[in-house]
Amino acid sequence: MPDLSAIVMAAGKGTRMKSPLPKVLHPVAGKPLISYVIRALKALEAKEIRAVVGYGEKLLRQVVEPMGVACCFQGEQKGTGHAVQCADPATIPSENVLICNGDHPLIGARALKKAYKEFLESKAEIGVVSATLADPGHFGRIVRNQGLLQAIVEVKDASASTLQIKEVNTGIYFVKREALVSYLDRITPDNNQGEYYLTDLISIGIADGARVIAIEGEASLSFGVNTQRELALATKALFREKAFQLMDQGVVLMDPENVYIEAEVEVGEGAMIYPGCVMKGDTKIGPFSVIEPNVFINDCQIGQSVQIRAGSYLESATIGDSAQLGPYARIRPQTVIGEEAKVGNFVEMKKVNFGKGAKAGHLTYLGDADIGENTNIGCGTITCNYAADRKKYKTVIGKDVFVGSDTQFVAPVSVGDGAIVASGSTITKDIPAEALGIARGRQENKEGMARRFKGQSKDS
Ligand code: UD1
Ligand code: CA
Repeated sequence: MPDLSAIVMAAGKGTRMKSPLPKVLHPVAGKPLISYVIRALKALEAKEIRAVVGYGEKLLRQVVEPMGVACCFQGEQKGTGHAVQCADPATIPSENVLICNGDHPLIGARALKKAYKEFLESKAEIGVVSATLADPGHFGRIVRNQGLLQAIVEVKDASASTLQIKEVNTGIYFVKREALVSYLDRITPDNNQGEYYLTDLISIGIADGARVIAIEGEASLSFGVNTQRELALATKALFREKAFQLMDQGVVLMDPENVYIEAEVEVGEGAMIYPGCVMKGDTKIGPFSVIEPNVFINDCQIGQSVQIRAGSYLESATIGDSAQLGPYARIRPQTVIGEEAKVGNFVEMKKVNFGKGAKAGHLTYLGDADIGENTNIGCGTITCNYAADRKKYKTVIGKDVFVGSDTQFVAPVSVGDGAIVASGSTITKDIPAEALGIARGRQENKEGMARRFKGQSKDS
């Protein structure tokens, strides 16, 4: 789309959030509120995006500058008109300027594009995007005379009859740069809040004979976050939308209102997701995989027909096709689980290559380890990877190895293919292929000793 830049107003604290975090940095479905606005503007191919920042400036810069947004500082929040002035519109590199609030997370690129197209076609100098709401609440009202836009009136300045109007200002404007620059200076703080209202552009433009229109937009564009309740509603709406999209693609969701799947996550058809699951970041789940209740997954690549049982926690891991995990498995970063492998309850893995068909059924910690194909790791096995020198060392176990229960591997150590490790061993030396490694105290039975310890004679 031709020649557009954007100004996002985000200098306010968001007093009604009752939280020290700047309002636009509160998380909505896992990402800062303002990032949704920026993403929508990027999808519109905005040439330059400027954010007006004030409260929490440093934190805001940390979030938006990496997204390619230029920050402009507004020291004192004197109103939305003043905020736009702080963005120095005269230096904007496009003929058209989109101005919007930073606190509207449901702003969608598609709805914005539609409004922008209408603005361009209308050849207007100023276009305000309106929405008609059953409950117009605190929104500025769109005042028309015989259908023609007259002004935007803020609630605090409105008469009882103006408050009846259901068409409201979404806070999104398209303005020709030239018009913006010339009318912005004419805004005065002559109203009940003593603020410079950006909305006064409308009446100023009309008085000057400019072409000023209201573009009827979708209701979702108007949804702004001002309170914690509205924040939670925004999150709910985004998770619901994602859940519905996934169902349309053939994913089975038992309870779409109770899954928390972020927008970028991909799930294959026929996969089944139980309630309470959280899926974040760069995560892909293959077709026909089953994710049982309350599983947390962040940045994971999960193959097809994988079964992840209830309560498991996975971060930055790759899980091969037909593997089974959990319940209550903890898979930490840089772990690769092979196809058809089985990882049972209370098993923790970190930086492990776990071979195809390998098994670790119960109560085990494996860290910095390579485990070969079809190797069985007995219950209670521990790789002692962290040494007294505070460095991490590696355990390498070959394929078809049988590790008995309650074994410790004091890394660095290796076990050859086909070896057996006796239960209860503390392995400190390498075990060759096909060997039996045993490292435990020998058992001795002392006849009658138990009775002596208990202070009892033989005949009592
Ligand atoms: C504004 C509009 C209102 C519209 C509503 C839509 C004005 C006067 N009113 O009201 O017509 O219906 O948005 O949500 O514009 N901000 C700054 N600097 C300031 C003041 C505000 O950066 O000096 C930022 C805020 O951080 C926020 C946005 O501008 O992101 C909107 O400000 P807010 O005070 O919430 O405006 P509303 O009263 O909601
Ligand atoms: Ca607002």
